[in-house]
Amino acid sequence: MNTIQLMILTFLVLMTSARVSSLRILGIFTHFGKSHFDVFQPIMQELSERGHDVTVLSYHPQPAAGYKDLVLESDIYTGNSLLAFDMLMPGYPGQFLEVFLVHELAREGCEFGLKSQPVRELLKSKKKFDLIIIEAFNTDCYLGLVHRLKAPFIHISSSTSLPWFTSRFGQPDNPAYISNLFMGFSDKLGFGARVINTMDHIWTNLLYQYYITPRDYEFAKAAFGNDLPRLEDIAMNVSLYIINEHFTIQRSKPTVPAVINVGGVHLAKKVIKKLPKNIEKWINESKDGVIYFSMGSMIKGHTFPEEKRKIFLKAFGRLKQRVLWKWENETMPDKPDNVMIQKWMPQYDILCHPNVKAFIAHGGLLGTTEAVHCGVPVVVMPQFGDQHTNARALEAGGGGVVLNFREADEEMVYNALKTVLDPEFNKKAKELSARFRDRPMSPMDTAIYWIEYVARHKGAHHMRTAAVGMPLYQYLLLDVFGFLAVCTLSILFIGIYVTKLFFRLVMSMFSKSDKKQKKLKKN
Ligand SMILES: *[C@@H]1O[C@H](CO)[C@@H](O)[C@H](O)[C@H]1NC(C)=O
Ligand SMILES: *[C@@H]1O[C@H](CO)[C@@H](O)[C@H](O)[C@H]1NC(C)=O
Repeated sequence: MNTIQLMILTFLVLMTSARVSSLRILGIFTHFGKSHFDVFQPIMQELSERGHDVTVLSYHPQPAAGYKDLVLESDIYTGNSLLAFDMLMPGYPGQFLEVFLVHELAREGCEFGLKSQPVRELLKSKKKFDLIIIEAFNTDCYLGLVHRLKAPFIHISSSTSLPWFTSRFGQPDNPAYISNLFMGFSDKLGFGARVINTMDHIWTNLLYQYYITPRDYEFAKAAFGNDLPRLEDIAMNVSLYIINEHFTIQRSKPTVPAVINVGGVHLAKKVIKKLPKNIEKWINESKDGVIYFSMGSMIKGHTFPEEKRKIFLKAFGRLKQRVLWKWENETMPDKPDNVMIQKWMPQYDILCHPNVKAFIAHGGLLGTTEAVHCGVPVVVMPQFGDQHTNARALEAGGGGVVLNFREADEEMVYNALKTVLDPEFNKKAKELSARFRDRPMSPMDTAIYWIEYVARHKGAHHMRTAAVGMPLYQYLLLDVFGFLAVCTLSILFIGIYVTKLFFRLVMSMFSKSDKKQKKLKKN
């Protein structure tokens, strides 16, 4: 064998030993929302393309993706369920109660989905998996399935973390500077904001622990048997947490080694496609640029309140820019010439068109991420869920301004658009885009690397910090502070006592010698 052959052989041996052999991976994505699945799907497809044996349990079959689909079905969860504007709850009391709304979304899945055909088949088939990837959102009831399948498992979140998942990783979640997902603060909170944020932090965690999880446990036991360990105990075994966020958008915060941020992963494989002719022409021919207006796929554009629609049209009429408005009806009354309506639009391709200068949005994370990626400043009108937090974070990072939809009048809409259309603002959005794209490894490669890492190291439990499962009083050092406080007070009291004693002694000595002197004088 000559040296070249030897080198090639060594290289091949190294290559094969560095790779994980094909893994059997199961994805469990049981929230019906398509926008969540849109984050997980590309990762599962990529795993499959890299040679793993991938099975996906979800409401969204993808026959072309190359992995095995196990399809959940439900009459209620009809794909893109659309929300009307008047269903959404405004302001603080509503935001405090959203936890219930989020939990209700999970109920049907836990009650019926757990006993459904594909889940029963999975249990019956006795198929072994090397890894399970399961969505971290509004329920843990599917952890019963994870427990029965006995494989290391990974959590994945399509948004920034829900408040109840951080503790199972020992992930710091300090409400002094980390906004609760439902609250919508940036990372700089005044006193009142910290009070509200802390209250919601405690409230959401208590509710999840003492109301939501016990209910889900009953559903899980009904499906997987009464000997099922408590869901919170199964949850403590989780290996890794993949979160669709990045510090350039969601603000800087600490992460423990088992928490991996992959913000923008849904764009990793997306190529910018050519726009439909009519839309491209409309954008091309606008001398002063185009404003793209979409409230996302979950909110029906035509349930847009009439009075607000007029306000927006009046503001658009005062601008030189053209407007592309995602609107589900065929026509729109009194539409000015500079507004074009379309039922469906390729959002990412539009946002990355160089002539698109602003985006009016609801602050959904996928749209927000796409805008940041393309460097388009956003006027954000958050409605529910993580949108408030996304909006504030984007504003703090220079990527947009927040507009309160319910209070907005013509002047406010016009001013918000004027602000983001300013070339200086555009520059800031471009800088944010550059920061967002500047990474040591693409978000997709990051996700795949750590997923395979968990398999390579048999669950990788060495990544867990000792804070996992630690009693709260120990984690918050309440016992230590209590002990130190008692010590300090004791020393203080003893000190005072000794000093007093000392002074009394000295005083009595003085008074004795005083008496003596007086006696002497008398004599
Ligand atoms: C946690 O994982 C360990 C080791 O893999 C296993 O023995 C134990 O049963 C798991 N606990 C639960 C509650 O699933
Ligand atoms: C729009 O402009 C681009 C670049 O100038 C050009 O390649 C494209 O053909 C134009 N499309 C239409 C429909 O005018």
